Amino acid sequence: MTGQFDASGSDEVEVPLAGGDVTEGVVRVGRTVRRPLGVHSPLVHRVLTHLEEAGFEGAPRLLGVDDRGREVLTFVEGEVAGRPWPAWVGEDERAVSVARLVRRVDDALEPLGVRHMDVTPENTVFREGQAFALIDFDLVREATRLEQVANLLLWWGAWLPEADRDPVQRHLDAAARGRLLVDAYGLDRSGRERLLQVAIEGADRTWHRMKSRAEQEGGGWARMWREGAGDQIRRRERWLQAHQRELTGALVRR
Ligand SMILES: Nc1ncnc2c1ncn2[C@@H]1O[C@H](COP(=O)(O)OP(=O)(O)OP(=O)(O)O)[C@@H](O)[C@H]1O
Ligand SMILES: [Mg+2]
Repeated sequence: MTGQFDASGSDEVEVPLAGGDVTEGVVRVGRTVRRPLGVHSPLVHRVLTHLEEAGFEGAPRLLGVDDRGREVLTFVEGEVAGRPWPAWVGEDERAVSVARLVRRVDDALEPLGVRHMDVTPENTVFREGQAFALIDFDLVREATRLEQVANLLLWWGAWLPEADRDPVQRHLDAAARGRLLVDAYGLDRSGRERLLQVAIEGADRTWHRMKSRAEQEGGGWARMWREGAGDQIRRRERWLQAHQRELTGALVRR
């Protein structure tokens, strides 16, 4: 063990944690989580340390690196959506609580100018039905608040074509849900006016970013790309364009 991490219980069993699509080898060991290090890890560790120093509770704590070269994080107790998504991923109250949490994370990260950018149900820990913490900061990067809100609306506002939505979100009214979430986030008027443009440009950039990750990193990125993730992003981009006026109208209406 290195760093301040205490080796107590190093003979404890490793319980695999299934969640997202990319990172393999995420395990729980007692009250900790071990994740492989990657090129993104120095930034992730800066972010987690910053949140800890800011006294922000809604993120795992970085405890160190273990003797197998994995990052050691605190396991955040609570409820996390697995696959298939539970019905509550479609509920307004849950989504509103996520928007409030993302606002608090963004405020805490303001000095660093970075955003989480992967606010999926699998990366959100709930306590008593309210979003308590974000985990999995692997996609953290320099980004604007509007880019982060667009990412929130993709995952919790069902801002994508109905045919591409998860069944538990298929019934959602994207305009009404979008309004609810930007209100909960507290987005200002000018942000609401610009959000659709940012979401559309973001979809295009995500397409390019994912393509190059699939080509350069392979693994889960390549598998998602083969399974049509790129086409899905293009469909979302066209859907956002087709609904631009309606969605913006709902966001700015008094
Ligand atoms: N610190 C933590 N506290 C509580 N649960 C966690 C923590 N880290 C991971 N988990 C659980 O393990 C699952 C997978 O972990 P994580 O999101 O870190 O990796 P991943 O989703 O497999 O990676 P990626 O999203 O990069 O593909 C999460 O969805 C969550 O259920
Ligand atoms: Mg994840």
